[in-house]
Order: sequence, then C-alpha cells, then structure tokens
Amino acid sequence: MTTTAPTRSTGAAGSGRAAISARTLRTDRWWLSPLTVAVVLGVFLGYATVRIFMRSHYWVDEYRYLTPLYSPCLSDSCVPGSSHFGTPLPEFPLALPLPLLIFPIIGGFRLTCYYYRKAGYRAFLLSPAACAVREPAGKYTGESRFPLVLQNGHRYFFYLASLLLLVNTYDAVLAFLPSGGGFRVGIGSLLLLAMVTALWLYSLSCHACRHIFGGRLKHFSRHPVQYWFWTQVSKLNGRHMQFAWVSLLLVMIADFYILSVAADWIPDVALIEVGTN
Ligand code: FES
Repeated sequence: MTTTAPTRSTGAAGSGRAAISARTLRTDRWWLSPLTVAVVLGVFLGYATVRIFMRSHYWVDEYRYLTPLYSPCLSDSCVPGSSHFGTPLPEFPLALPLPLLIFPIIGGFRLTCYYYRKAGYRAFLLSPAACAVREPAGKYTGESRFPLVLQNGHRYFFYLASLLLLVNTYDAVLAFLPSGGGFRVGIGSLLLLAMVTALWLYSLSCHACRHIFGGRLKHFSRHPVQYWFWTQVSKLNGRHMQFAWVSLLLVMIADFYILSVAADWIPDVALIEVGTN
C-alpha cells in the first residue's frame, strides 16, 4: 500500500480549510475512546514485558498448560516438559527473554494490524485523536516514509503468526490431556480453548487473509470456491476490531491464569476427568 503525502494546502492546516483556532468544536467525550485504547494497550504492553522477562510460572506440568507468551519454548533454558518441539536453541543468559524469537512475531503482527494501526495512531500519536479533532503535527505523511512504511510488511507477520497459531492450537489440545494420562477438562483447558478460538477468528478476519483468498481475482464468477471463502472471510473481517480486543484480552487472562496456577496461588478446578491418575 502506498500513500501520497498530503501537502499543507490539503492538510488540516491547509489554506483551503476554515481558519478555526480551536483544536475541535466537538462537545462530546471524543477523548474517551483513544484514552481507553491507550490505557488497555499500555497495560498489556507493561504486563507482557514483565512476563517475558520473568522466566518462571509459564508451564504447569501436571495439566500441561503452557502460556501463549512462551510458546513454542525452544531453548535449553526452558523448564522440562514445556518444549513440545525440542530445544534447537542453546541456554539463554538471564538478561534474554525466552520468547526471544516468538515475541517479535506476536508483537509485530499486532503492531502492523490495520485495526491496531488506526487505534494506535489515534491513542498514542493523536493523529488524529478523533474525527474533526485537529492533530498536533503540522504535516501528515501517512505511512509513506520510514519507519511507518514498514507497516506494509503486515502480510509477512500474518504468515509467521499463522504458524504460531498452529502451535497454540496444539498447546490447547494438550491442555485436555494431563501428564498423568486420561482426559481432563479444567478451567485452564477451557481458557486456552477460548483463547485459541479467538486467535483463529482474529487471524482469519485479518485484511491480509482476506486478500489472500480473493484479493487478486478479477472475475469472481470464474472462481466460485475462492469466492465463497472470500465471502466468509469478508463477514469475519467486518468484526475484526472485536476479535482484536477479545483475543488480546484472552491471551492476557490465559497467561495470568497459568501464572496463578503455576505459582500455587490458586488451584485449577477440574470440571470433567476421565481416566486420570
Ligand atoms: S489486519 Fe489486523 S491482523 Fe491483519
């Protein structure tokens, strides 16, 4: 996606615009939405930063719960049992977070998401904070220059995040199969299942995913199967913002729950147990 940078003659301070000194004439609580976004994203960023440097309480061996923030755990420093795909990486010094490879993918996918871009620009850059509210910057260059031009790499984060999602799905299945054998439905298994479902909905409703299904087609009538998939993904795409928030909150809730069980703050309640020891 390329954008043309508007000049001052067409921007908010351009000569063709009404010369109003007030930043906005809106009298409603237009600031509430960007403020809420800034607070929630700020809390999540702070929480995730603390968690990835904690290096503990990310795996519950008895119930095979692995937090999504550490999955897959690929280093020799990972606690026994938590590395479902082996440990191709050596031990990490304490200063390095264990999810060194995966966190940039998770973060990059969210950071370059079309919805989070809009939300982030409004909440953090105030560009603009809301409709009909003048932004502080005198000039608008869109995403045509470094570093924001890198946002165009979103589709590549989508490919990488889709691989991680397959791993998360595998983790969610394992959460129903405790290490002692049998089948067990605990609060943690249900949380991981809900989280992975929300992540699938978030990923499938991604704009890049929609483009992959039908973005290049010139004649839908000649590709009925692709058209059908594109139509379904388009329906999900209309709810992308909701999936973005629900999946983010569920990642945070699932991680905090696993932290709480692993640290013995709370027990994990079993709702169904079949053949467990
Ligand atoms: S547009 Fe939001 S994840 Fe792709």
